Amino acid sequence: MGQCFKATVLLVLALAVRESSGQRIIGGQEVVPYSIKYQASIQYNRVHYCGGTLIRPQWVVSAAHCWRPSSLIQVVLSEHSLVLEEGFEQIFNVSKALVHYNYNYQTFNNDIMLLKLAEPAQLNANVQPATLLEDTDPPLNSSVSCTVSGWGVTRIYSSYLSQVLYAVVVNVMPNCNFYYYGKITENMLCAGSRFGGKDSCQGDSGGPLICDGNLEGIVSWGIGCANPYFPGVYTKVRNYTKWIKWVIGTNE
Ligand SMILES: *[C@@H]1O[C@H](CO)[C@@H](O)[C@H](O)[C@H]1NC(C)=O
Ligand SMILES: *[C@@H]1O[C@H](CO)[C@@H](O)[C@H](O)[C@H]1NC(C)=O
Ligand SMILES: *[C@@H]1O[C@H](CO)[C@@H](O)[C@H](O)[C@H]1NC(C)=O
Repeated sequence: MGQCFKATVLLVLALAVRESSGQRIIGGQEVVPYSIKYQASIQYNRVHYCGGTLIRPQWVVSAAHCWRPSSLIQVVLSEHSLVLEEGFEQIFNVSKALVHYNYNYQTFNNDIMLLKLAEPAQLNANVQPATLLEDTDPPLNSSVSCTVSGWGVTRIYSSYLSQVLYAVVVNVMPNCNFYYYGKITENMLCAGSRFGGKDSCQGDSGGPLICDGNLEGIVSWGIGCANPYFPGVYTKVRNYTKWIKWVIGTNE
């Protein structure tokens, strides 16, 4: 009982941190500019607060907890430095922000959202959609390494976003429910480093976890960042392929 309570309190704290300042990559490094071609920055008043992933020319997937009214947010593709105008940026208004119908903001189950861009992105050398898996694809091999990217904080207790895009290699952690007292649903997966030190963090929320070239996860939540006992928790994108196709099909 006591443990449950503590976990809940910690969870709420961690959420508050990840949502308000949006977490950044811990233990990673700056990427080659524009090499993560599906990476999106979601911005409110021109300020980055969450990541996203381009999956179709006019659609970006992110986390439900990154929702804001569509009229108040913009999506930036082909972005590297958030502070410099580098001339390659593609900036879009958002015409629809559609949160999963079963999203639970207390447990973070179904933490997924689709954003329809006001116009399709220009696909080019810097901008390409990520690959979604089909039901028929073989299951995720938990020994593959994955990459998570974002502009989130690069130091654990920092509240400053990274100015440039970072990425870190993490491993899928299969027995994650042990660490999180049963709070990991079948729609979540965990990834991190066995010794800690590598993780997504505030400001990375909504961004991509790519394993073996496929979009497997969306940065969702965690207790603290880069702690060996509390790996990062991701929305398991495989479970939503049907929903994604249905939403896109009915909102084209
Ligand atoms: C986004 O919408 C605003 C307000 O409707 C408009 O002024 C602006 O030009 C639009 N931006 C783009 C990139 O379409
Ligand atoms: C998973 O990947 C490892 C190393 O890449 C490989 O040895 C193993 O056979 C794979 N397992 C499955 C079930 O594909
Ligand atoms: C989500 O994935 C797990 C396996 O990883 C599966 O057991 C479960 O049925 C899936 N849920 C849905 C709603 O597809």
